[in-house]
Amino acid sequence: MLKTHLCGELRKSHIGQKVTLCGWVNRVRDHGGVVFIDLRDRSGVVQCVFDPQRCPQEFVATAREVGNEWVLEITGEVTSRPPGTENPKLATGEVEVCGQGLEVLNEAKPLPFPVSSEELTVDEWVRLKHRYLDLRRKRMRDILELRHRFTKAVRDFMDENGFWEVETPVLWKHTPEGAREFLVPSRLHPGRFFVLPQSPQIAKQLLMVAGVERYFQIARCLRDEDPRADRQPEFTQIDIEMSFVTAEDVYDVVERLLQYALEKAVGVKVPVPFPRLTYDEAIDRYGSDKPDLRFGIELVEITDIVAKSNFRVFAETVAKGGQVKALCVQGFSAASRKDIAELTEFAKRFGAKGLATLALGDGEIRSQVAKFLTDGELQAIFKRCGAKQGDLVLVVADEQDVVAEALSNLRLKLGRQLGLVPTDSSGDLRFLWVTDFPLLKWDADEGRYAPSHHPFTSPYPDDVPLLQQGVQALNDPNFPIPKGHRDHPLSKVRAYAYDIVLNGYEIGGGSIRIHRREIQELVFQAIELPPEEAKRKFDFLLEAFEYGAPPHGGIALGLDRILAVLANCEATVPETGMPYLNIREVIAFPKTSTTQDPLTGAPTQVDEKVLAEQHIALRPDAQEAAKGD
Ligand code: AMO
Ligand code: AMP
Repeated sequence: MLKTHLCGELRKSHIGQKVTLCGWVNRVRDHGGVVFIDLRDRSGVVQCVFDPQRCPQEFVATAREVGNEWVLEITGEVTSRPPGTENPKLATGEVEVCGQGLEVLNEAKPLPFPVSSEELTVDEWVRLKHRYLDLRRKRMRDILELRHRFTKAVRDFMDENGFWEVETPVLWKHTPEGAREFLVPSRLHPGRFFVLPQSPQIAKQLLMVAGVERYFQIARCLRDEDPRADRQPEFTQIDIEMSFVTAEDVYDVVERLLQYALEKAVGVKVPVPFPRLTYDEAIDRYGSDKPDLRFGIELVEITDIVAKSNFRVFAETVAKGGQVKALCVQGFSAASRKDIAELTEFAKRFGAKGLATLALGDGEIRSQVAKFLTDGELQAIFKRCGAKQGDLVLVVADEQDVVAEALSNLRLKLGRQLGLVPTDSSGDLRFLWVTDFPLLKWDADEGRYAPSHHPFTSPYPDDVPLLQQGVQALNDPNFPIPKGHRDHPLSKVRAYAYDIVLNGYEIGGGSIRIHRREIQELVFQAIELPPEEAKRKFDFLLEAFEYGAPPHGGIALGLDRILAVLANCEATVPETGMPYLNIREVIAFPKTSTTQDPLTGAPTQVDEKVLAEQHIALRPDAQEAAKGD
């Protein structure tokens, strides 16, 4: 090593030692002959002083020449800073290095943006174009280190608990369920394609058939998804699979894993076990399958109270089978007309047709709709919501999904607007298991059921008869309940699946899997996957199940999302005011939200020769679109 010490490690105990440091010029100041260079390396910053009285002139002269971000090797002696010049903000602030030698290892052009200050006004595109500079910033270095510490702790924990890390293929087979896949043309097999895996799901199940019993992998997943703020086409899962387990075993491992890794990486000890809600409870109380439990404001159903009300909107919604639900916001009765208008506009973004409000002011109720409600109805609403003087009740009447969507988002917005959650998302870590998801969801566009999660999820053992009944119903033209209806048996089958939520973000999901061929085939029938297609796509898996597949289950945790919560990377969508996790901040080289890489320019065009080698001819529209490059 050229260096004997790290810049950031120097303390009073080093005083008197001769050191050699290497790093970047964070800042340089010339104070009438004496030159101060703040030298930075990965560990931090230390002040180096080039004083003509104590240092050979040639080095003082060179020190005067250097610019920001030049790379230097500095030799000198660690000394105590003169009294009154200590810098308590700097870990090395009690000492400085009295420079005695200086070598310029490399120069640097002026930077497109400063990396030494934490304030950043530059566009994200510019940051990503020069990501290697962006990563020089302390905040980004801290995040890289956090990521390393966290994954290291995960590996240690998994190893200690008997899990083996196994790498699974990145060239995989096209099995189009779930997200869209990235295709990889096969040069050696013209007209054929590999795909990049959306997750190691099938491979890890095959490892269970292989008898690995306890597998994990810090696995890269690739999904050609439409851009969304909290998603990346490339992201990382902590992927876990276990044999001979129930969901309880998975909960236990994950709770202990997260407890361990959080303690190691950020020094926080979270309590276990984590609370649990069923999917139905979560939707009922929070309108969301990933509720933020850091604050209250639960949804309260008042459908029965207003079913016969004179307010037509309410009565008609109920008559049509809809729902009326309320949120009681404590101490918000003084909300202005403008506040209410804003909340109403916000609710409308999520499909609500309107927002009724009841403000309990000083002995009066301020409301656009109170005049249509009887005293009895009003009192019953207030009682059920627990509303007191000073509170504001918000009401939405609509189809169930719309009510849930509008009120759950209003709840999140208000939680932040009213300061009910810490502005630092890592300040309070609330985990939650959500269980008992429906196995299937109705896909109205396709006119068939689709898996809620993925098709390898086991139905609840008790619900297998319901699944059988539902599949029979699909083939029975006289079955009285239409497909997709909430009373259809296939709408009611519960999955043996679970999600894990942190502060309102889904950070993982998994299930106990199907390990018997006949149940897997039943699920394929339920999603109306024709047998030939099932065979073509999944034959290798179905066959594997016939050679002694053990019962198994697992989970995948979204590493980037967990880290984004820990590193306080919550941001707000400008158009909607909704919070989201900017996971780009915790990925060394992310893509933009439009799936581009400003650093390399990818995706780029490739030479005709390369395309030909891969047996690919561009369609005219693609040729045209690419011309703009
Ligand atoms: P799932 O698709 O739910 O499950 O993914 C698991 C977790 O991965 C994270 N995640 C993402 N993070 C960033 N960008 C994305 N585009 C993205 N997509 C998903 C989320 C999510 O909870 N094979 C199953 C797991 C299993 O059943 O074991 C799977 O991939 O935090
Ligand atoms: P309107 O009769 O449409 O002028 O609405 C009267 C009030 O009821 C307004 O404050 C609307 O925002 C509210 N409102 C209208 N539709 C709904 C609905 N579906 N749920 C709750 N409030 C509504």
